[in-house]
Amino acid sequence: MYRILVADDEPIERTVVSKTIQKYFPEQLAVILATAVVVVSIMALVCCYLTPEEKEPEFVFSYAENQGEDYPTTLGAKYFSELVEKRTEGRIRILVQAEGTLGNEKEVILQMKYGGIDFARVSLSQLAEYAPELNVLQMPYLYEDSTHMWRVLDGEIGAKFLNGISDDELVGLSWYDAGARNFYNSKKPISCLEDMEGMKIRVQESELMEDVIGALGAVAVPMGYADVYSSLERGIVDGAENNWPSYESMSHYEVARYYTVDEHNRVPEMQICSGYTWEKLSEKDRAIIMECAKESARYERELWTERARESKEFVMSHGTEVVELTAEERKRFRNAVMGVYEKYCGDSMDVIEKITAEGAVR
Ligand code: GCU
Repeated sequence: MYRILVADDEPIERTVVSKTIQKYFPEQLAVILATAVVVVSIMALVCCYLTPEEKEPEFVFSYAENQGEDYPTTLGAKYFSELVEKRTEGRIRILVQAEGTLGNEKEVILQMKYGGIDFARVSLSQLAEYAPELNVLQMPYLYEDSTHMWRVLDGEIGAKFLNGISDDELVGLSWYDAGARNFYNSKKPISCLEDMEGMKIRVQESELMEDVIGALGAVAVPMGYADVYSSLERGIVDGAENNWPSYESMSHYEVARYYTVDEHNRVPEMQICSGYTWEKLSEKDRAIIMECAKESARYERELWTERARESKEFVMSHGTEVVELTAEERKRFRNAVMGVYEKYCGDSMDVIEKITAEGAVR
Protein backbone atom coordinates (compact mmCIF):
# COMPACT_ATOMS: atom_id res chain seq x y z
CA MET A 1 0.00 0.00 0.00
CA TYR A 2 1.23 3.49 -0.87
CA ARG A 3 0.13 6.90 0.26
CA ILE A 4 -0.22 9.10 -2.77
CA LEU A 5 -1.21 12.76 -3.15
CA VAL A 6 -3.63 13.46 -5.98
CA ALA A 7 -4.24 16.81 -7.71
CA ASP A 8 -6.85 18.05 -5.28
CA ASP A 9 -4.37 17.35 -2.46
CA GLU A 10 -6.63 14.79 -0.84
CA PRO A 11 -4.59 11.92 0.52
CA ILE A 12 -5.95 8.61 -0.65
CA GLU A 13 -4.90 5.02 -0.12
CA ARG A 14 -4.63 3.01 -3.31
CA THR A 15 -2.72 0.06 -4.79
CA VAL A 16 0.17 0.69 -7.21
CA VAL A 17 -1.90 -0.34 -10.18
CA SER A 18 -4.46 2.32 -9.69
CA LYS A 19 -6.31 5.10 -11.34
CA THR A 20 -3.85 7.64 -9.96
CA ILE A 21 -0.99 5.97 -11.88
CA GLN A 22 -3.05 6.13 -15.02
CA LYS A 23 -3.73 9.78 -14.33
CA TYR A 24 -0.03 10.54 -13.79
CA PHE A 25 1.28 8.37 -16.62
CA PRO A 26 0.91 11.02 -19.37
CA GLU A 27 2.97 13.39 -17.24
CA GLN A 28 5.74 10.80 -16.86
CA LEU A 29 5.64 10.16 -20.54
CA ALA A 30 6.06 13.86 -21.16
CA VAL A 31 9.06 13.89 -18.84
CA ILE A 32 10.60 10.92 -20.68
CA LEU A 33 10.01 12.56 -24.04
CA ALA A 34 11.42 15.86 -22.89
CA THR A 35 14.50 14.08 -21.55
CA ALA A 36 14.93 12.26 -24.86
CA VAL A 37 14.67 15.55 -26.77
CA VAL A 38 17.30 17.12 -24.53
CA VAL A 39 19.64 14.11 -24.92
CA VAL A 40 19.25 14.06 -28.71
CA SER A 41 19.83 17.82 -28.93
CA ILE A 42 22.96 17.54 -26.80
CA MET A 43 24.21 14.74 -29.04
CA ALA A 44 23.50 16.78 -32.17
CA LEU A 45 25.27 19.74 -30.60
CA VAL A 46 28.25 17.56 -29.65
CA CYS A 47 28.37 16.17 -33.20
CA CYS A 48 28.50 19.71 -34.60
CA TYR A 49 31.49 20.44 -32.41
CA LEU A 50 33.32 17.17 -33.18
CA THR A 51 36.43 17.75 -35.19
CA PRO A 52 36.62 15.80 -38.48
CA GLU A 53 38.94 13.30 -36.75
CA GLU A 54 36.32 12.56 -34.08
CA LYS A 55 33.48 11.88 -36.53
CA GLU A 56 32.80 8.43 -37.88
CA PRO A 57 34.00 8.56 -41.53
CA GLU A 58 31.96 7.25 -44.42
CA PHE A 59 35.11 6.05 -46.20
CA VAL A 60 38.54 5.07 -44.88
CA PHE A 61 41.04 4.75 -47.72
CA SER A 62 44.63 3.52 -47.91
CA TYR A 63 47.48 5.50 -49.52
CA ALA A 64 50.76 3.82 -50.46
CA GLU A 65 54.03 5.76 -50.35
CA ASN A 66 57.44 4.13 -50.52
CA GLN A 67 59.50 6.98 -49.05
CA GLY A 68 60.23 7.78 -45.38
CA GLU A 69 57.95 9.77 -43.08
CA ASP A 70 59.76 13.10 -43.54
CA TYR A 71 60.32 12.84 -47.30
CA PRO A 72 58.69 15.55 -49.47
CA THR A 73 56.33 13.14 -51.24
CA THR A 74 55.17 11.67 -47.92
CA LEU A 75 54.60 15.13 -46.46
CA GLY A 76 52.68 16.00 -49.63
CA ALA A 77 50.54 12.88 -49.17
CA LYS A 78 49.81 13.76 -45.55
CA TYR A 79 48.82 17.27 -46.57
CA PHE A 80 46.53 15.78 -49.24
CA SER A 81 44.91 13.54 -46.65
CA GLU A 82 44.37 16.47 -44.24
CA LEU A 83 42.83 18.64 -46.94
CA VAL A 84 40.45 15.87 -48.03
CA GLU A 85 39.38 15.15 -44.47
CA LYS A 86 38.74 18.83 -43.79
CA ARG A 87 36.87 19.53 -47.01
CA THR A 88 34.65 16.46 -46.70
CA GLU A 89 34.02 17.31 -43.02
CA GLY A 90 35.49 14.03 -41.90
CA ARG A 91 33.50 11.85 -44.29
CA ILE A 92 36.64 10.72 -46.14
CA ARG A 93 39.72 9.64 -44.26
CA ILE A 94 42.92 8.71 -46.11
CA LEU A 95 45.56 6.80 -44.16
CA VAL A 96 49.04 7.40 -45.55
CA GLN A 97 51.25 4.32 -45.18
CA ALA A 98 54.84 5.41 -45.80
CA GLU A 99 58.13 3.47 -46.04
CA GLY A 100 56.78 0.99 -48.56
CA THR A 101 54.73 -0.88 -45.95
CA LEU A 102 52.04 -1.64 -48.55
CA GLY A 103 54.60 -3.13 -50.95
CA ASN A 104 56.98 -1.98 -53.65
CA GLU A 105 55.68 0.28 -56.41
CA LYS A 106 55.15 -2.52 -58.90
CA GLU A 107 53.00 -4.49 -56.44
CA VAL A 108 51.16 -1.35 -55.33
CA ILE A 109 50.13 -0.51 -58.91
CA LEU A 110 48.96 -4.08 -59.43
CA GLN A 111 46.94 -4.05 -56.22
CA MET A 112 45.35 -0.73 -57.16
CA LYS A 113 44.19 -2.19 -60.45
CA TYR A 114 42.18 -4.70 -58.44
CA GLY A 115 41.05 -2.27 -55.74
CA GLY A 116 43.35 -3.58 -52.98
CA ILE A 117 44.90 -0.14 -52.34
CA ASP A 118 43.00 3.12 -52.85
CA PHE A 119 45.62 5.81 -53.44
CA ALA A 120 49.38 6.04 -54.08
CA ARG A 121 52.20 8.23 -55.27
CA VAL A 122 54.42 6.35 -57.70
CA SER A 123 57.37 7.01 -59.93
CA LEU A 124 56.57 7.40 -63.61
CA SER A 125 59.20 4.76 -64.46
CA GLN A 126 57.09 2.17 -62.74
CA LEU A 127 53.82 3.49 -64.05
CA ALA A 128 55.13 3.49 -67.62
CA GLU A 129 55.46 -0.29 -67.41
CA TYR A 130 51.70 -0.29 -67.01
CA ALA A 131 51.01 2.61 -69.43
CA PRO A 132 53.96 2.66 -71.90
CA GLU A 133 52.84 5.89 -73.57
CA LEU A 134 54.12 7.65 -70.40
CA ASN A 135 57.72 6.82 -71.34
CA VAL A 136 57.75 9.87 -73.54
CA LEU A 137 57.82 12.07 -70.40
CA GLN A 138 60.85 10.44 -68.84
CA MET A 139 63.20 10.00 -71.78
CA PRO A 140 66.90 10.48 -71.02
CA TYR A 141 68.34 13.97 -71.39
CA LEU A 142 64.92 15.24 -72.48
CA TYR A 143 64.48 18.31 -70.27
CA GLU A 144 67.03 21.05 -69.99
CA ASP A 145 66.15 21.71 -66.37
CA SER A 146 63.37 21.66 -63.82
CA THR A 147 61.67 24.78 -65.25
CA HIS A 148 61.49 23.08 -68.62
CA MET A 149 59.94 19.92 -67.17
CA TRP A 150 57.34 21.87 -65.18
CA ARG A 151 56.41 23.96 -68.16
CA VAL A 152 55.59 20.70 -69.94
CA LEU A 153 53.79 19.00 -67.03
CA ASP A 154 51.81 22.08 -66.05
CA GLY A 155 50.79 22.66 -69.64
CA GLU A 156 48.67 20.88 -72.21
CA ILE A 157 51.01 17.89 -72.55
CA GLY A 158 51.08 17.17 -68.83
CA ALA A 159 47.29 17.44 -68.59
CA LYS A 160 46.83 15.13 -71.56
CA PHE A 161 49.01 12.40 -70.02
CA LEU A 162 47.57 12.82 -66.53
CA ASN A 163 44.02 12.43 -67.82
CA GLY A 164 45.18 9.88 -70.36
CA ILE A 165 46.00 7.20 -67.81
CA SER A 166 42.52 7.48 -66.33
CA ASP A 167 40.63 4.35 -67.27
CA ASP A 168 38.58 1.83 -65.32
CA GLU A 169 41.64 0.72 -63.37
CA LEU A 170 43.59 3.86 -62.45
CA VAL A 171 42.89 7.58 -62.29
CA GLY A 172 45.67 10.20 -62.47
CA LEU A 173 45.32 13.02 -59.91
CA SER A 174 48.44 15.20 -59.94
CA TRP A 175 52.17 15.45 -60.73
CA TYR A 176 54.77 15.37 -57.97
CA ASP A 177 58.42 16.42 -58.27
CA ALA A 178 61.34 14.00 -58.03
CA GLY A 179 64.11 16.18 -59.40
CA ALA A 180 66.86 14.85 -61.65
CA ARG A 181 68.56 11.48 -61.40
CA ASN A 182 72.33 10.97 -61.29
CA PHE A 183 74.70 8.00 -61.10
CA TYR A 184 76.50 6.86 -57.97
CA ASN A 185 78.68 3.90 -57.17
CA SER A 186 81.03 2.33 -54.66
CA LYS A 187 84.00 1.79 -57.02
CA LYS A 188 85.38 4.98 -58.53
CA PRO A 189 84.50 8.50 -59.64
CA ILE A 190 82.71 8.42 -63.02
CA SER A 191 83.83 11.36 -65.10
CA CYS A 192 83.63 10.05 -68.67
CA LEU A 193 81.60 7.58 -70.70
CA GLU A 194 84.36 4.97 -70.58
CA ASP A 195 84.02 4.86 -66.76
CA MET A 196 80.55 3.36 -67.17
CA GLU A 197 81.89 0.32 -69.01
CA GLY A 198 80.85 -2.95 -67.32
CA MET A 199 79.52 -1.24 -64.14
CA LYS A 200 76.59 -3.11 -62.61
CA ILE A 201 74.00 -0.42 -62.06
CA ARG A 202 70.73 -0.96 -60.26
CA VAL A 203 67.73 0.45 -62.14
CA GLN A 204 64.02 0.63 -61.42
CA GLU A 205 61.96 -2.21 -62.82
CA SER A 206 61.71 -0.38 -66.12
CA GLU A 207 62.59 -1.72 -69.54
CA LEU A 208 63.46 1.77 -70.78
CA MET A 209 66.00 2.23 -67.99
CA GLU A 210 67.55 -1.17 -68.70
CA ASP A 211 68.09 -0.07 -72.28
CA VAL A 212 69.53 3.30 -71.25
CA ILE A 213 72.09 1.68 -68.98
CA GLY A 214 73.00 -0.86 -71.64
CA ALA A 215 73.49 1.94 -74.19
CA LEU A 216 75.97 3.58 -71.80
CA GLY A 217 78.06 0.40 -71.72
CA ALA A 218 77.00 -0.61 -68.19
CA VAL A 219 75.01 -3.62 -67.00
CA ALA A 220 71.49 -2.90 -65.77
CA VAL A 221 70.24 -4.75 -62.71
CA PRO A 222 66.52 -4.07 -62.15
CA MET A 223 65.26 -4.32 -58.57
CA GLY A 224 62.87 -2.70 -56.11
CA TYR A 225 63.88 0.46 -54.24
CA ALA A 226 63.94 -1.19 -50.82
CA ASP A 227 66.68 -3.63 -51.88
CA VAL A 228 69.19 -1.11 -53.20
CA TYR A 229 71.07 -0.38 -49.98
CA SER A 230 71.84 -4.01 -49.17
CA SER A 231 72.72 -4.76 -52.80
CA LEU A 232 75.24 -1.93 -52.82
CA GLU A 233 76.61 -3.01 -49.48
CA ARG A 234 76.99 -6.65 -50.50
CA GLY A 235 78.43 -5.79 -53.92
CA ILE A 236 75.52 -7.31 -55.86
CA VAL A 237 75.58 -4.04 -57.76
CA ASP A 238 78.38 -1.49 -58.14
CA GLY A 239 76.10 1.47 -58.31
CA ALA A 240 72.65 2.89 -58.79
CA GLU A 241 71.06 6.13 -59.95
CA ASN A 242 68.68 8.46 -58.19
CA ASN A 243 68.01 12.03 -57.06
CA TRP A 244 69.77 13.71 -54.10
CA PRO A 245 66.97 13.18 -51.53
CA SER A 246 66.67 9.43 -52.27
CA TYR A 247 70.44 8.96 -52.18
CA GLU A 248 70.50 10.67 -48.78
CA SER A 249 67.30 9.39 -47.16
CA MET A 250 67.92 5.74 -48.09
CA SER A 251 71.51 6.12 -46.82
CA HIS A 252 72.96 5.01 -50.16
CA TYR A 253 75.73 7.56 -49.62
CA GLU A 254 77.06 5.30 -46.86
CA VAL A 255 77.75 2.49 -49.32
CA ALA A 256 78.29 4.33 -52.64
CA ARG A 257 80.30 7.47 -52.13
CA TYR A 258 81.03 8.48 -55.74
CA TYR A 259 78.20 10.62 -57.10
CA THR A 260 78.27 11.90 -60.69
CA VAL A 261 75.96 14.75 -61.62
CA ASP A 262 74.86 14.06 -65.19
CA GLU A 263 71.09 14.57 -64.72
CA HIS A 264 70.40 11.79 -67.22
CA ASN A 265 66.68 11.99 -66.63
CA ARG A 266 63.88 13.63 -64.74
CA VAL A 267 61.26 11.12 -63.75
CA PRO A 268 58.15 12.88 -62.54
CA GLU A 269 55.83 11.14 -60.12
CA MET A 270 52.08 10.79 -60.13
CA GLN A 271 49.42 10.62 -57.46
CA ILE A 272 46.91 8.02 -58.55
CA CYS A 273 43.60 6.58 -57.37
CA SER A 274 42.28 3.09 -57.94
CA GLY A 275 39.39 2.92 -60.42
CA TYR A 276 37.44 0.84 -57.89
CA THR A 277 37.75 3.57 -55.29
CA TRP A 278 36.88 6.28 -57.81
CA GLU A 279 33.67 4.40 -58.64
CA LYS A 280 32.49 4.63 -55.03
CA LEU A 281 32.80 8.42 -54.94
CA SER A 282 30.20 11.03 -55.82
CA GLU A 283 31.02 13.69 -58.43
CA LYS A 284 31.32 16.21 -55.60
CA ASP A 285 33.86 14.10 -53.69
CA ARG A 286 35.84 13.41 -56.85
CA ALA A 287 36.14 17.14 -57.46
CA ILE A 288 37.33 17.67 -53.86
CA ILE A 289 39.92 14.91 -54.21
CA MET A 290 41.22 16.31 -57.49
CA GLU A 291 41.52 19.81 -56.06
CA CYS A 292 43.27 18.59 -52.88
CA ALA A 293 45.69 16.44 -54.92
CA LYS A 294 46.66 19.48 -57.00
CA GLU A 295 47.13 21.64 -53.92
CA SER A 296 49.25 18.99 -52.24
CA ALA A 297 51.38 18.78 -55.38
CA ARG A 298 52.17 22.49 -55.21
CA TYR A 299 53.17 22.02 -51.58
CA GLU A 300 55.35 18.99 -52.39
CA ARG A 301 57.14 20.91 -55.12
CA GLU A 302 58.14 23.63 -52.67
CA LEU A 303 59.37 21.06 -50.17
CA TRP A 304 61.29 19.27 -52.90
CA THR A 305 63.51 22.19 -53.83
CA GLU A 306 64.49 22.75 -50.23
CA ARG A 307 65.08 19.05 -49.47
CA ALA A 308 67.22 18.51 -52.59
CA ARG A 309 69.53 21.33 -51.44
CA GLU A 310 69.70 20.02 -47.88
CA SER A 311 70.33 16.42 -48.98
CA LYS A 312 73.18 17.46 -51.23
CA GLU A 313 74.79 19.45 -48.42
CA PHE A 314 74.28 16.61 -45.97
CA VAL A 315 75.89 13.87 -48.08
CA MET A 316 78.78 16.12 -49.08
CA SER A 317 79.56 16.66 -45.44
CA HIS A 318 79.36 12.89 -44.89
CA GLY A 319 82.00 11.77 -47.35
CA THR A 320 80.31 11.85 -50.76
CA GLU A 321 82.65 12.76 -53.56
CA VAL A 322 80.84 14.67 -56.29
CA VAL A 323 81.85 14.80 -59.95
CA GLU A 324 80.09 17.24 -62.29
CA LEU A 325 80.20 15.92 -65.86
CA THR A 326 81.64 18.46 -68.25
CA ALA A 327 79.28 19.73 -70.98
CA GLU A 328 81.36 17.83 -73.51
CA GLU A 329 81.11 14.54 -71.62
CA ARG A 330 77.40 15.00 -70.98
CA LYS A 331 76.95 15.35 -74.73
CA ARG A 332 78.73 12.00 -75.20
CA PHE A 333 76.43 10.33 -72.64
CA ARG A 334 73.45 11.88 -74.38
CA ASN A 335 74.50 10.75 -77.84
CA ALA A 336 75.12 7.23 -76.58
CA VAL A 337 71.48 6.79 -75.52
CA MET A 338 69.70 8.50 -78.41
CA GLY A 339 68.87 5.10 -79.93
CA VAL A 340 66.25 4.46 -77.22
CA TYR A 341 64.13 7.32 -78.57
CA GLU A 342 63.39 5.34 -81.70
CA LYS A 343 62.36 2.26 -79.72
CA TYR A 344 60.19 4.01 -77.10
CA CYS A 345 58.92 7.10 -78.90
CA GLY A 346 58.84 6.00 -82.52
CA ASP A 347 55.11 6.77 -82.67
CA SER A 348 55.25 9.92 -80.63
CA MET A 349 58.17 11.88 -82.00
CA ASP A 350 55.75 14.79 -82.48
CA VAL A 351 55.29 14.92 -78.68
CA ILE A 352 59.06 14.80 -78.18
CA GLU A 353 59.40 17.72 -80.57
CA LYS A 354 56.77 19.70 -78.68
CA ILE A 355 58.50 18.96 -75.38
CA THR A 356 61.86 20.02 -76.80
CA ALA A 357 60.31 23.21 -78.16
CA GLU A 358 59.10 24.08 -74.64
CA GLY A 359 62.73 24.04 -73.55
CA ALA A 360 63.55 26.78 -76.01
CA VAL A 361 60.92 29.11 -74.48
CA ARG A 362 62.69 31.37 -72.02
C1 GCU B 1 62.68 7.66 -56.43
C2 GCU B 1 61.18 7.63 -56.40
C3 GCU B 1 60.66 6.33 -55.84
C4 GCU B 1 61.27 5.17 -56.59
C5 GCU B 1 62.77 5.27 -56.52
C6 GCU B 1 63.48 4.12 -57.23
O1 GCU B 1 63.20 7.68 -55.15
O2 GCU B 1 60.69 8.68 -55.61
O3 GCU B 1 59.28 6.31 -55.92
O4 GCU B 1 60.83 3.95 -56.06
O5 GCU B 1 63.17 6.49 -57.09
O6 GCU B 1 64.56 4.34 -57.72
O7 GCU B 1 62.94 3.01 -57.25
